[in-house]
Amino acid sequence: MVELFVICETRDVQEEEVRGFTLARLDDAGAVRPWPILVTRKGGKYFGYENACPHEGTRLDTRPGEFMDEEGNFIACGKHGAMFDLDSGHCFIGPCQGKALVPLALIVDDGDLCLADPRLTDEDGLDIPDPGEHPEVLITPD
Ligand code: FES
Repeated sequence: MVELFVICETRDVQEEEVRGFTLARLDDAGAVRPWPILVTRKGGKYFGYENACPHEGTRLDTRPGEFMDEEGNFIACGKHGAMFDLDSGHCFIGPCQGKALVPLALIVDDGDLCLADPRLTDEDGLDIPDPGEHPEVLITPD
């Protein structure tokens, strides 16, 4: 049985929000490689994609954590402006029109969003900031 790898809690992804995560995955030679992904929610369903534009293969967020067009309706590539549907990853405008983001088979398990890819590993040795992470605010008494 394949172990589930928890990405985040389901409540961490709001309706029509896009969050980015950098996971770590083993390549064919067994080396640990960063694997940027994004997850979103539409109509109460969760969708995940590799964070790689089908046009040039680069990350969609040229500014960390910025994944959407100005109106906040679609996933957008910050480099050349391609736009993708949240629920299909299909590109409907831009240099990769007609192509699609690589989908991930997300599994919802007891309030967690998970993947079942056996190549996933803990991020040991990879000190990569999570672009979707907000700085923690520490409230201290006066
Ligand atoms: S790299 Fe994304 S639209 Fe060109």
